[in-house]
Amino acid sequence: MRVWHVVGARPNFMKMAPVHAALARRGIKQTIVHTGQHYDADMSGVFFRQLGIPAPDYNLEVGSSSHGEQTARVMLRLEPLVASHRPDWVLVYGDVNSTMAATVVCVKLGIRVAHVEAGLRSRDRGMPEEHNRIVTDHLADLLFTPSSDGDRNLRAEGISAKRVVRVGNVMIDTLVRLLPEARRLAPFGLGEGTDPFVLVTLHRPSNVDDPHALARLIGALDEIATRIPVVFPMHPRTKARLKDLGFSRIRTEAPTGYLEFLALQSRAALVITDSGGIQEETTFLGVPCLTVRENTERPVTITVGTNELVGTSPVTLKRRAIAILRGGGKRGRVPPLWDGRAAERIAAALLKR
Ligand code: UD1
Repeated sequence: MRVWHVVGARPNFMKMAPVHAALARRGIKQTIVHTGQHYDADMSGVFFRQLGIPAPDYNLEVGSSSHGEQTARVMLRLEPLVASHRPDWVLVYGDVNSTMAATVVCVKLGIRVAHVEAGLRSRDRGMPEEHNRIVTDHLADLLFTPSSDGDRNLRAEGISAKRVVRVGNVMIDTLVRLLPEARRLAPFGLGEGTDPFVLVTLHRPSNVDDPHALARLIGALDEIATRIPVVFPMHPRTKARLKDLGFSRIRTEAPTGYLEFLALQSRAALVITDSGGIQEETTFLGVPCLTVRENTERPVTITVGTNELVGTSPVTLKRRAIAILRGGGKRGRVPPLWDGRAAERIAAALLKR
């Protein structure tokens, strides 16, 4: 059996790492295609190194562009490769443009596709990730879901249960493996036992592309920073938008590697984010998380975990942050099957087919 992995953007890499390792343990021949959607060393290369993933066999070097152009470039460059090699399975991850593009190419060539992290829905049709999730799930042959809401969403869209296997959360496999190593680090001088701080990440187009929306959020963070240090490792999309905004107290930093970010998350008094994966990681770590969005495709982090949707009002964000910092954070639990063994279940299910 020959398995190909197609990955492209930062959040794909920690999902592929454990699946690659589980298949390698079973002696499966594997090929990694990096689409090049993310290309900076601190958005891509550092993750391969820290996660112990072999260097990609192919890099499609698609780079940044509009959604249509980026998706089309992946399709154009991937098609001849998979057509000539015809792997038995192509594994795609998450909800980025590369995920959807690879799925469309492969199913049209009659090559079987398995989607890792299937079934998530925000029901927000304005999100590019929601388009990618819907297309990918409807076309892929095998759908690996992280939690029961994923199964329910797929069933509600008429997708046969025969295509769905609930395996749990692969990103947590990586977290479980690397947390001890991360805990030995002190990124930005924030080691074990340092004073409390708030950790922030924002990069969703809906929050950072509109200068007014971004200015209001940054204003709220700057006010929170009068009470407690606010550390903000910044995605390049956000950095590009922030150039003209004045703020004084927030501590902005370059994007960090996986291990450094995990160390910061595990020690933060509170995490403020609009990322999907960080809602899950904070739930696993038991760290309070305020999600600066109106919806989430990961409801289990709210019903079971430590996550809370605050929307995008700066007033609510500030109010909830202060309440949590005074001790009012949620005490969550770890959702079922977030046990560090999801990739083993994926490998077993693939081999069975
Ligand atoms: C993409 C994903 C998003 C994911 C995020 C994680 C889609 C639709 N979106 O969003 O779901 O949460 O990755 O980071 O696939 N840039 C660089 N260097 C890089 C990559 C990007 O400077 O290595 C800059 C470019 O200016 C680019 C911008 O970031 O235009 C956005 O990159 P892009 O991959 O288009 O989207 P993300 O916002 O990263």
